[in-house]
Amino acid sequence: MAVAASSVNGDDAFDPVSTWVGWKRYIDSAPAVPGADDSGWSLEERLDYHSQFVVVTTPAMERVKRELQTALLVNRRQRGTARRGLIVSGPPSTGKTTTLMELGRIFELADRRKHSGVEDRLPVAFVSVPPASTPRMLVSEFARFLGLPVLQRMNQAAITDVVCATLCELRTQLVLVDDIHLLDTRTRAGAETSDQIKHLGERIPATFVYAGVDVHDSPLLVGPRGQQLAGRFKLLRNDPLPYSTAAQRHTWEELIGSLESALRLRNHRPGALAEQALYLHSRTAGVIGSLSHLIREAAVTTVLDGTESITKALLHSIELDIRAEQQVLAPGPAVTRQRTAKRTKTKS
Ligand SMILES: Nc1ncnc2c1ncn2[C@@H]1O[C@H](COP(=O)(O)OP(=O)(O)OP(=O)(O)O)[C@@H](O)[C@H]1O
Ligand SMILES: [Mg+2]
Repeated sequence: MAVAASSVNGDDAFDPVSTWVGWKRYIDSAPAVPGADDSGWSLEERLDYHSQFVVVTTPAMERVKRELQTALLVNRRQRGTARRGLIVSGPPSTGKTTTLMELGRIFELADRRKHSGVEDRLPVAFVSVPPASTPRMLVSEFARFLGLPVLQRMNQAAITDVVCATLCELRTQLVLVDDIHLLDTRTRAGAETSDQIKHLGERIPATFVYAGVDVHDSPLLVGPRGQQLAGRFKLLRNDPLPYSTAAQRHTWEELIGSLESALRLRNHRPGALAEQALYLHSRTAGVIGSLSHLIREAAVTTVLDGTESITKALLHSIELDIRAEQQVLAPGPAVTRQRTAKRTKTKS
């Protein structure tokens, strides 16, 4: 499984990826090279590295990537309503946003190679649906991404015109819209915002990819508007990784192996994490967000205490997010109790 990205970046300025500056910063951040010589890294750099860590390719990510390549080709000569899109749907923390960002990065880097030296291009746009969004708020998010001023006197139509004109001028071909579950098409504002997205999809010659929490089960696809959306978008599930069949266990073990090989810990025995694949699955229920947190917290802890090796005891002492802790069934509440007791002892 490929290790795709991440970087040691000393610059602390924060620009969300839903702004052009933040998006460019994300695309331009130097990827971590697996096997790179880290002997000269300072403590701070080692902590930064494990805090940011790497993005590994999951099966869901691979599928979304394949589907997107096909959708882009199918849409290439299509206009307006005939273009098809994708919706990435799954429970919280399963890597939906990360998948969108990685897709965007791959697409943008390929576009840069194809059009090297051409400045005025913006192949990818990334926005997040704001909570309780109205159509004006949504299109203003696009304007914010593009760095376009939204003046008080501009109405929704005027902002839409300038956003569409700019995206067309910059040859944007991929539009990523995150947190689409925040649109409730049963409310008036939600329904109108959904219409606004559809309108943008007709005016911008791009392929749209949405991501959201359990969209397959949400009001977004209900009612006439929802049905319209359902008629144009393919739904791709981004579920926690299962661990039942031999193939599923192999995939999970490969994922752990990829994360483990990206660690930069001086005394860590290679394979020690992979041996804990079953334990790691029982702790995280196959949710990549919980897994990533567990490994990163363990890594940072060992860098700080100087042991520089991740053991099962260390993993066991780390408390995870509420969802992960609540789902731990085997060996039952004793796991939590032991962990809590251990933490209290350490603190005192
Ligand atoms: N492929 C991956 N490789 C390594 N870490 C990952 C990967 N995917 C997600 N993560 C990590 O898991 C955490 C959650 O990921 P992300 O925010 O993408 O999930 P999400 O499904 O969008 O969550 P939410 O539903 O809360 O929006 C992040 O810390 C991210 O770095
Ligand atoms: Mg997300």
